Amino acid sequence: MKIVTLQASPHLDGNTDRLLDWSERALKDWRHDVTRINLGAMNIQPCKACFACAETPDAPGCVLSDDAPGVFGEMINADAIIYATPLYMWGFSAQMKALLDRSICLVRGYSGEEHRSLIENTPATLLVSCGGPDAGNADLIRESFPRYANYTRLDDRGIFVFPHCTDVNMLPNSHGATARELARVLTE
Ligand SMILES: Cc1cc2nc3c(=O)[nH]c(=O)nc-3n(C[C@H](O)[C@H](O)[C@H](O)COP(=O)(O)O)c2cc1C
Repeated sequence: MKIVTLQASPHLDGNTDRLLDWSERALKDWRHDVTRINLGAMNIQPCKACFACAETPDAPGCVLSDDAPGVFGEMINADAIIYATPLYMWGFSAQMKALLDRSICLVRGYSGEEHRSLIENTPATLLVSCGGPDAGNADLIRESFPRYANYTRLDDRGIFVFPHCTDVNMLPNSHGATARELARVLTE
């Protein structure tokens, strides 16, 4: 499978990167083709809410000429996608939120019978690294990602929250196995 991973921490060597790397290693062990996109290193502007995209039937059609159309091209061609974000203020990092907002250009006919998406039926998982615990901390992102997945018609394979991520060199031992499990459910 061709798998695209979206890493939305500003740190290229932080907790989110390390956890995602563990998932990616498992995928490569199983002979999948993995393309990493570090969103923090890209120019992805906020959605202008111009709705020009809605006038284009079968392509993103976004009028902004930044790095997002290239990312969308990779997502559209992918067989599976991992979204990976640090938990910021109980939600997505701004780097991820900008891309999620811009994903409006992938969807047409929302809430009607014509509801469709350019990433429809693509298996996807969400990886969340956070400094605190899971309970009472990651509940907003556990609520919002399934709604995004429903909106974009992704095949939502689940959310994997990695608590107690402070020092990248002292991540809890169990996180390695959880990262591999994320890769397994994405591709099974
Ligand atoms: C702006 C900001 C907001 C944060 N908000 C939360 C939070 O709401 N809950 C939490 O558990 N950790 C929070 N953290 C901690 C990070 O989620 C956590 O350390 C994460 O693993 C950092 O990932 P990174 O090393 O890839 O940057 C926050 C950190 C920053 C910088």
